[in-house]
Order: sequence, then C-alpha cells, then structure tokens
Amino acid sequence: MTPHEWIAILDYGSQYSQLIARRIREQHVYSELLRFDTPGPELEQRKPSGIVLSGGPSSVFDDGAPIADPGIYELGIPVLGICYGMQMTAHLLGGDVQPGKEREYGNAGIAITEGNALFRDLPTDIDVWMSHGDQVSKLPTGFSVLAETGTCPIAAMGDTKRRIYGLQFHPEVVHTAHGTEILQHFIFDVCGCKGDWEIAQFIKENVDNIRERVGNDHVICGLSGGVDSSVVAALIHQAIGDRLHCIFVDNGLLRYNEAEEVERTFGEAMGIDLHVSRSQDLFISKLKDVEDPEEKRKIIGNTFIDVFSEEARQFGNVKYLAQGTLYPDVIESFSPIGGPSATIKSHHNVGGLPEDLQFKLIEPVRELFKDEVRELGRELGLPEALIGRQPFPGPGMAVRILGSVTAERVTLLQQADLRVQEEIAALENYTDIWQSFAVLLPIQTVGVMGDERTYENVVALRVVESMDGMTADWFHVPYDVLAKISNRIINEVRGVNRVVFDISSKPPATIEWE
Ligand code: XMP
Repeated sequence: MTPHEWIAILDYGSQYSQLIARRIREQHVYSELLRFDTPGPELEQRKPSGIVLSGGPSSVFDDGAPIADPGIYELGIPVLGICYGMQMTAHLLGGDVQPGKEREYGNAGIAITEGNALFRDLPTDIDVWMSHGDQVSKLPTGFSVLAETGTCPIAAMGDTKRRIYGLQFHPEVVHTAHGTEILQHFIFDVCGCKGDWEIAQFIKENVDNIRERVGNDHVICGLSGGVDSSVVAALIHQAIGDRLHCIFVDNGLLRYNEAEEVERTFGEAMGIDLHVSRSQDLFISKLKDVEDPEEKRKIIGNTFIDVFSEEARQFGNVKYLAQGTLYPDVIESFSPIGGPSATIKSHHNVGGLPEDLQFKLIEPVRELFKDEVRELGRELGLPEALIGRQPFPGPGMAVRILGSVTAERVTLLQQADLRVQEEIAALENYTDIWQSFAVLLPIQTVGVMGDERTYENVVALRVVESMDGMTADWFHVPYDVLAKISNRIINEVRGVNRVVFDISSKPPATIEWE
C-alpha cells in the first residue's frame, strides 16, 4: 500500500519512538511506526528501505519482553537498532547482553573506534545521550565495535556487509551531538533513500488509495469541529467529492460560534454534503442536575452515539466510516508496555455504534502527528483559524462548568472563554501553548461594582504547555495579559466578578478540571 520509499520503525515502547519517526520525516523520508513483532514477510511485502528498532524500557531477560521476528534480519533490508533495539539484535543474532547493575542515564562521551558509514565525517569524540541498564557484552558473528565509552565497551556495533547496526545511545534526541547526521547517514547512505517525501505527496497517495478502496461506494464522516476530523473530511472530499457525507452533532457545548464556523467552512465554502444535528436542547436536558464529572461524560458519550447513529441510519447502505484517529491514539492500543495510561479521545471514538451500523473504518491520518495533520490541512486549503485550533474535549464545556450544566451557564462560559481566546491568540508565543480556556466554578463570591455589592460567579483561567497532553505545566502568561483577560471578563461578561489563575501542573492535576 505504500509505494513511496519509507523507513519502518518497530516500536519497543521507548518514549522516544515517535521522535525517531519525526526525525526521519524531517529528512523528507516517510516513516511509520509498526508493532514490535511485525512479521518479516509483512515487511518484505511492504518493502521499507530500512528498519529501525526503537529503544524501550524492557530488558531482553524479562519474561514477556517484546522481541522482533528474527526473520527481519534475513530480508537484506538495512537495520538500525537503538538502545534496547541494539541489545535485542545482539541477543537474537548470537551475541551476549550483560544485565546492567545500574541504569546509565544522561550525557556520555563516545569515542569512535572504527571509521564507518554511520559516523562518516564526524569527530572521533561525540557527546551522546544514554538511557540504558543492560549493554551488549559480546558481538554477534560478523559485527565489529564502532564506538566505546569508559563504561560501555560496545557503544555502537555494525555488520557492514549485512548492513545491520546498533547504537547504545539515542541519536534522535537533541542532546546527542551529530544525532541528525547519524540518522541521515543511515537513511541516505546505508538505506539509499532520496528524501523526496512531501506532505503533497502524502495527499496524492492517499487520495489515490481512498478512491481505489471506496470504488463507487459512499463514506460518512463525523465532524467534530477539531483539526483531525476536519482534515480527514477535506482529504476524503478531495478523493470522492459528493460521495462523502459529513455528520456534525452540535451538542451545544462547543466554543462560542464554533458550530456556525463548521457549517460555514464545510457546508458553504467547501460544498461538502454536511448534515447538522442541532441537539443542544437534548444534551442540556440530559445533563439536567447532573454534577458528577464521570456521569456527565457518560451521558454525553452515550447521547452522542445515539444522535450520531440516528443520523447515520439515513446512510444505511454506506460501507465506510472515516475517523480522524492520530498516531498517538493508535500507539496506546498496542504499545508493548501498555502505553501511557491517559485515554485521550474516548468520546469521539465512535467504536460504540449499534450493531446495525457496521462500518469499515477509513483512518487516513493514523500515521501522522498533530503538527503534520496541521500541515496537511494547510495544504488542503483549510482556514488557519481551524488549523491552529487547540485540542478540545469531546464533552466540551460540560467538563469546564463545575456543578450542573445549564444553557445559561454554557452561554456565560462561552463568553468568558471567547475573551481568553482573543487575548491569548495575540501572544507572540501563542504556538507554545497547548490549551488555554476558562472554567466556570460552582461558587459565588462577593464583589463590588460601582456602589453596589455583587455576589457572582468565579471564572478560573487555565493555560498550559504540553507536548502531547499526557503531562503539562502551567504556562507563564505575562502579568499584563492576565490583567487584560481578567478586566475584560469581569467588565464584559455579566455574572462574573472574580477571575483566578490555575497554577497546577499535570500530574498531579489534570488539564481539564473534570
Ligand atoms: P486531562 O484533563 O486528562 O486532558 O489532563 C488531557 C487532554 O485530553 C483532552 N481531553 C479529552 N479529549 N475527549 C477528548 O477528545 C475527552 O473526553 C477528553 N477529556 C480530556 C484535554 O482537553 C487535554 O488536551
């Protein structure tokens, strides 16, 4: 299915696996993360130009340690094992691995002991980033030592003839000097890639694939207003035009004006067949008097599935359902160590559809990272306001209104949130921010306005920076911006007389308040 040159990365659970994929794609070579046990014949058929075995937290001595199909070393395809990937390679090919007494973690200096394709034109001493317990103690037949450190006599190894290499350190992290060059040497010199992958190429290949797969059939797609589903809709629309039918459930819990924007962009501007279900009243009535956060989430998730299913039934003969699943969503489902525990996106995963709606899934961006999806969206001509949009939880404003949710409280929070969005968007380093939003607290406090005593709502301001939503820190918003947001909310939004700023990191707090 992948006609283009590409590098396969088998994932052994390292926190850096995604980063390897990133670094390779930055060189304009497509790369894809695959399960750690992807069978040799499957790789042989898909013809990657090279295979990278990622690091991971396991030891090859652990029961149930993730191990590659040894057949991957027999394909004649170059292999680069990184950290655990190197130890596993030594273990599988007849070398020895020595259990580490303690973990070596941090910077180390390696000395290159043998001139080699990987280290071509590099200084002989390089600072690298190490993070390992075990290390290779005996080389497999055919290999030689390429680099050493004071504590690690085999810091890099290679079998030049079979083009199989191992690095005990991490070339993908910025703390490794010349790491990018080492990866470049592997993908260009060893694997022979040309580096002609562009996002436009991705669009073309996917449009062709979708056309071929769907044939004369139709596809339905749930639009959420977020970047991922929007990009998927635009991509599929490019492939099959009016045989794509989008369903947008307006649950009344979106940001200010968001529903109108979705209608305008997709319905009017792009001419997509858009079916809007205006279900605000239904959602609000189901949420009446519900205060428990989990209960709210459950009600919203179930109601969403009911409404979506009802809309989808009118397309009963449609075979395909398109979803904006991203790589970080995929990885959690197969990571050998169970993956990060937080489940993002449980709500919009419409896997819970009733039995009479059995669709085959189309997930065209499942190999991409968020910023690549954004680039794709730009290339497809989606408006910048939509592309730059921050993540937004499926249950929307309901989990940002503490206590019971009413239409009035939603409107109040939308108004406060709009001020936050406007002021934060004006920041120079706006793109460093993962999310910024207002939260409506279930308490009232005393204030004074003119000569009058007030007794009104408190709004909390949450602004965080994060790589992936798994961990986060509060963003150091400049005081003058905080002042402006506070002034604007208190002066312009009726019903609020106090604004507070949330200075908690995740963990132990979460990003959302519920
Ligand atoms: P927390 O609050 O767990 O959130 O730190 C982590 C990230 O996930 C988003 N989030 C959700 N996204 N459906 C979603 O699609 C949900 O139910 C949901 N709950 C939280 C949250 O906005 C943050 O980016």
